[in-house]
This record gives sequence, structure tokens and C-alpha cells, in this order.
Amino acid sequence: MAVARFFSPMNLLVSALAISSLCSASPFGLEERQAYALVGDGFEAATSTLGSYYNYWRKLPNGTFDLTRSDRSPVTTPKVLPMMAHRSSIKIEPNRTGLVIIDMQNFFLHPDLSPKAVNGRAAVQPTVNMINGFRKHGMKVLWVNWGLTEYDLLTIPPAFKSGFSGGSDLANETFGSDMGTIKDNGTTIEVGRLLMRGSWNAEPYGVLGTMKNEGLAAGTDMLFNKNRLSGLWGPQTPLGLWLQENEMSTLFFGGVNADQCVWSTFVDAYFKGYDVIYVDDISQTTSPSYAQEMCRYNAAGYGFIGNSSAILKALG
Ligand SMILES: *[C@@H]1O[C@H](CO)[C@@H](O)[C@H](O)[C@H]1NC(C)=O
Ligand SMILES: *[C@@H]1O[C@H](CO)[C@@H](O)[C@H](O)[C@H]1NC(C)=O
Ligand SMILES: *[C@@H]1O[C@H](CO)[C@@H](O)[C@H](O)[C@H]1NC(C)=O
Ligand SMILES: *[C@@H]1O[C@H](CO)[C@@H](O)[C@H](O)[C@H]1NC(C)=O
Ligand SMILES: *[C@@H]1O[C@H](CO)[C@@H](O)[C@H](O)[C@H]1NC(C)=O
Repeated sequence: MAVARFFSPMNLLVSALAISSLCSASPFGLEERQAYALVGDGFEAATSTLGSYYNYWRKLPNGTFDLTRSDRSPVTTPKVLPMMAHRSSIKIEPNRTGLVIIDMQNFFLHPDLSPKAVNGRAAVQPTVNMINGFRKHGMKVLWVNWGLTEYDLLTIPPAFKSGFSGGSDLANETFGSDMGTIKDNGTTIEVGRLLMRGSWNAEPYGVLGTMKNEGLAAGTDMLFNKNRLSGLWGPQTPLGLWLQENEMSTLFFGGVNADQCVWSTFVDAYFKGYDVIYVDDISQTTSPSYAQEMCRYNAAGYGFIGNSSAILKALG
């Protein structure tokens, strides 16, 4: 039955609501658990299967976290990858795994527009390596970028407009304002309107722009616009809908800024029931180092941390 292998955070939400309505009767009786199809899940004592019937992790005797949900969903060629923190190894199903690349856009990375983004520019090459590794194993590359519309300009809150005004707090210098031109090797570039969809400043930086276009043409990559720091905020977003419809469960994260847009999307994915892997060396920021330390500290608690070289070596 098709529904038996369907992973969806929305199913989980429905289950969670059903469970919460039973809380006064806890601990759950067998009949109640059967009624909600939760028998055999992590409610059993002394098992290392954590989660619900559809969305669960299994901790294997050797400590590897098996994220494949293979009792409910078909597996192709699962991969075992080393991680850096206390959850030191994961087993993933490539067909339900994606690499989420956040905001590696000209606005945030081009030296003329963001001179301070030295670490972000240094993350370009390891990001390229991760993209190639993921594509090689049939794992989707998901570009998640600011790409505002006129409607967004009407509805985006004042705090965001202030934060993106470059400190001026002038309405003509925040989202949607014309950024003029820059000279790049003698060529004049129209930078476009600040983070508007289709503008040059909202395109991925350098070689990443070329790779995004190639990936979209080949069908290995997908592009999702966002209109807040998080690409998964609120009830639903283009990224969220795609993840749900394509039965994704496991997301690797990289981009800029690690503690802002990467972090917002990472925690929303965690809240919605996805496995989240923070890829340390491709997640960079212009913020102080303590902001990045916060990401590392919490990513280890919410999910996993890895680095591109160890992941790519294990992927093969
Ligand atoms: C742990 O055991 C599983 C199942 O035997 C195996 O696939 C996996 O590679 C092991 N993990 C490590 C880190 O060796
Ligand atoms: C990369 O990850 C591997 C495996 O978790 C770890 O052994 C190694 O120390 C990490 N390297 C860096 C530079 O963080
Ligand atoms: C925005 O308006 C102020 C005040 O009129 C002006 O000084 C500034 O140059 C304008 N900024 C842009 C980007 O046009
Ligand atoms: C501009 O020219 C320099 C030196 O020739 C080159 O290294 C750089 O890649 C060029 N930049 C672009 C964006 O083409
Ligand atoms: C991979 O996932 C897609 C989309 O969810 C599905 O249609 C396809 O059957 C899956 N392939 C395998 C081999 O499981």
C-alpha cells in the first residue's frame, strides 16, 4: 500500500495531535496505540528505535544511527558516513537525502558587495566538491536563495527591512532598492534590485551560478526562492512542499550566514521532523566566532555535524 511507505512531517503532526489529546490517559494503553498505528515504535521499553511508526531512527549496536526508515521505505544503496560530534556515524538512504545550499549569492559573497565575507568565499570550493559528490550518488542538490517578489515587499515585516538596509534604515536602501552598478574586470554589471528574484545580486556567486544552471538543466538540482531567513518558515514554503512531495527525510546544510539563514532553515527542518546534518566547513558567516560556535554546539544536539572531506571520502 503506497501510504505505508510515505514519510511526511504532516503525518507526524496529525499523529502528535492525536497523541496529545490522549495525554490525560497516559501511559498509553495497547488499544490506544493500535488505534493510532503506533505499535512497535519507540514507545516500547529498552529498544533503540526512536520516533514514530513512519519517522524513526534506529541506533545500531555499534553506535551508528540508521536514518533509512528501511522497514517502511525502500532503500537503494545506503551509505554510512562519519560525523564529528557525539553521534559519530549515520546511515542514510541516498534517494531521500538532499544537500541544502543557502544564500551563496552575489549579494552575500561578491567582494564588492560583501567585502567581509572572506570565509564564505573560502567555502565555495568545498561546496563545489559536495555538489559533485552528491550528484554522483543521485542525491539532490537544493539551492535555497533569497528571491523576493513585489508581493513580498508589501508583506515583509519592518524588522527585516531595517536589518537589510545596510544600517541606514532608509526605505529606499533596503529590499527591492536599486543597487546601481559595479565594475568587474572592466565590465559594468547591473547589480539589480536588492535580493529581488532574477536580479544579478540574487544569483549564486561565481562558479556556483554556473553549477546551479547546469544542475537545473540536468535535473540533478532544484532551486527554491525564500522570503525570510528560513526557507522552511510558516505552514509551508516551496522548499517544504517539494521535500514533502518527494518523501525526503535527511538534509545536509551549508551556506551563509551559518548562524542566520543556514541556522533558521536548519532549525525549522529539525522542528518539522527532518534529520539535519550541519556541514561545518561549508557553513560560514561574517558574524563573530561565538555565533558559529553556537551553531556547532546546537547542531550536535539537534542532529549531526560533519565536514565535506570526511563525508566525500566515505561516499566514494
Ligand atoms: C555499524 O553496523 C552497521 C550494520 O552492520 C554497518 O552497516 C555500519 O557500517 C557500522 N558502522 C560503522 C561505523 O562501522
Ligand atoms: C572531519 O570529520 C572527521 C569525521 O568525523 C573527523 O575525524 C575530522 O577530525 C574532521 N576534520 C575536521 C577538519 O574537522
Ligand atoms: C535614499 O534617500 C536618501 C534621502 O533622500 C538619499 O540621500 C539616498 O541617496 C537615497 N539612496 C539611494 C540608494 O538612492
Ligand atoms: C577578473 O580578472 C582576474 C585576473 O585576470 C581573474 O583572476 C578573475 O577571475 C576575474 N574575475 C571574474 C569575475 O571574471
Ligand atoms: C526514489 O524516489 C523517488 C521519489 O520519491 C521514487 O519515485 C523512486 O521510486 C525512488 N527510487 C527508488 C529506487 O526507490
